[in-house]
Amino acid sequence: MSSSKKNEEANPKTNKKLFPPKLNRVQHIGIKVHNLDLAVEFYRDIMGMKISDKYEPGDNPHNPWGICFLRSGNLHHEISLIGYDKKENLKPNRIGIREPGVGLHHIAFEVDSKEEFESWISHLKENKIEFTAGPLVHSPTHPEGDGTLGENRALYFYDPSGNGIEIFCDMARINEEDNSIEEKWFRDRLQKDGYSRNSCNPSRPWIPGRSSMEGAIEKFGKK
Ligand SMILES: [Fe+2]
Repeated sequence: MSSSKKNEEANPKTNKKLFPPKLNRVQHIGIKVHNLDLAVEFYRDIMGMKISDKYEPGDNPHNPWGICFLRSGNLHHEISLIGYDKKENLKPNRIGIREPGVGLHHIAFEVDSKEEFESWISHLKENKIEFTAGPLVHSPTHPEGDGTLGENRALYFYDPSGNGIEIFCDMARINEEDNSIEEKWFRDRLQKDGYSRNSCNPSRPWIPGRSSMEGAIEKFGKK
């Protein structure tokens, strides 16, 4: 069936016509792991990915899990590892994952712009898709930021089987030289979002042995 033909059909639940906004691609996957450090070693040393940010359980007042974000290109993450190695972590988190254990946490679809992202909000609401988290901005310093990392503007929901789905735009670009967020990208994005280019600074880059939250908390402080 052609996409234009499909778009002429209506959602039987809402009787609304289906006009999904544009997706760029599947860009990253969140994975629940039993042992965060072992998983990080595997994706770094065997798979050759680079660590963009990492924090331990309890480091981030906005998220109880240890998380490591890894990349193979210059976007902040293509894999996020979520450590489910502590019993207290085996609860649905605020992004709303129903089942504990290991495996898929969420699949993230990238869209082109904040405008496209807002079209997705409307489209999902029209089709009665319930958000499990968001819309939010994963940033410790952005004026709309929620204290987490990645800089992406995101929202989360489930597919019919309970798999986590994320729609996002504007993930941070990383400088290969020092692991920092690209300054120009950061200030351009602030301006696009309607803020002064200098209204805040990027969080400090992660370095081995230091939790990302030591560098990240600027606006929120620690619990
Ligand atoms: Fe994600």
